[in-house]
Amino acid sequence: MKTLLAAILLFSTFSMAAVTKEPFGKTSDGRQVYLYTMKNNSGMEVAITNFGATIVSLKVPDRQGKFADVVLGFDNVSGYESKADPYFGATIGRYANRIAKGRFTLDGRQYQLAINNPPNSLHGGAIGFDKRVWTVEEGDSNSQHLSLHYLSPDGEENYPGNLSVSVTFTLTDANELKIEYAATTDRDTVINLTNHSYFNLYGQGEGDILSHVLTLFADKFTPVDLTLIPTGELRSVGTPTRIPAKSPDAAAHAITPFDFRRPAAIGARVNDYDEQLKFGRGYDHNWVVNGNMGELRQAARVVEPRSGRQMDVLTTEPGIQFYCGNFLDGTVKGKGGKVYKHRYGFSLETQHFPDSPNHPSFPTTELKARRQFRSTTVYRFSVAKGH
Ligand code: GAL
Repeated sequence: MKTLLAAILLFSTFSMAAVTKEPFGKTSDGRQVYLYTMKNNSGMEVAITNFGATIVSLKVPDRQGKFADVVLGFDNVSGYESKADPYFGATIGRYANRIAKGRFTLDGRQYQLAINNPPNSLHGGAIGFDKRVWTVEEGDSNSQHLSLHYLSPDGEENYPGNLSVSVTFTLTDANELKIEYAATTDRDTVINLTNHSYFNLYGQGEGDILSHVLTLFADKFTPVDLTLIPTGELRSVGTPTRIPAKSPDAAAHAITPFDFRRPAAIGARVNDYDEQLKFGRGYDHNWVVNGNMGELRQAARVVEPRSGRQMDVLTTEPGIQFYCGNFLDGTVKGKGGKVYKHRYGFSLETQHFPDSPNHPSFPTTELKARRQFRSTTVYRFSVAKGH
C-alpha cells in the first residue's frame, strides 16, 4: 500500500513537471511556432515560445498563495511579430542594448550595423534574435527545463561569424527561473545576450510599477549621452549628477536618483530634475553590479508591497539595465486585452555594458573563434518578509 502511494505520488510529481506544448500561431511567413509551459511542484508556471525564445507568461504566488501573471506580453505570435512589440520577454542578441552609430571595429575591420534606433543600433539590429524562430530540444518531457537553439549565420545583421547560441530555461522547485546562455562562433565576433521581460509583480496590466520597491546591488552606473550611449565613465551612484545650483531639489540630490543601495520605490525619484533621467525619460541605465563578474551574485531585489511578491535577480554578468517602461504609452494591447500604459512594467536586463565594443575600458564583449560564451541569470520569486 505504502509503495503504491509512493508510486502515485512520484508519478503525479513527475507528470506535474512535464513540459506541455501547444500551438502559438503561425508567423507571417507561415511557420508554426509553439508555446511550452513548465510548472514546478509549488504551482509556479512559466510559458515560453520558440519565437524569439520569449517568456510569454510567468505565474507566481503572492503572500496569500494567490497566483498572478507578472510579465507583460501577447496572446499569440502575431503580437510578438508586430512593430509595436517593445521586446516583451524576448531573448535579445546578438548584441543587447545599443552600439553607437551601429559601428565597431574588430580585428582591424569595421562593421556597420542597422541603425534601427537612430542614431544607434539597438538590440541586435533590424531583425534581432527576438524575431527569429528558435529550435527546441525536445524529448525531455519529465523535466522542468527547456533548451532553445539558434544558429545566427555569418553576416546576419552584419555581425561576423556563425554564432551558435543556446538558451536554457530551468524552473526550480525553489520558485526560480534560471536562464543559462551558451554560444560559440567560428570567427571572432561580439556578443551580449539578455532577456527583456517586463515585470509587474502586482500582475500584468494592473497599473504602473512606481510603488515597487527596488534595491540594486551596485555602487556605480554608466552615465549616458542624450542618445543613451555610455560616456565611458563609471560614476558612483552616491555622487550627485549635474543639478542647477539653486534647485529647490538640491538637498534631495545629496542622494542621487541612481542610488538604490537601500530599497527605494521606483517612483520616488524618477521624476526628479536630473540630466541623466532626462536623457532616459526616466530610468534607462546600466548599473555596474558589485562583486566579481563570472560569479553568480545578487544584482537586484524588487518588492511589490501590496501583494508581498518579491523578485531577486542574480547574475554572472557585469551589468544590469534597469528600464522602467518609459516608452510604454498605452498604444500596445497585450495579454487578455490589457492595455500597457506609461511605466506599466520594468525590465532588469542582465548584460555586458551597452556599447562595449567602442569602450576598451569596459569588460570585453568580444567572443573569440572556438571559445565558449557562458552566462547565467536567475529570477527568484518569494514573499517579502515584513510585508
Ligand atoms: C531597453 C532599452 C530602452 C528601450 C527598451 C525597448 O532595453 O534600454 O532604451 O529601447 O529596451 O523599448
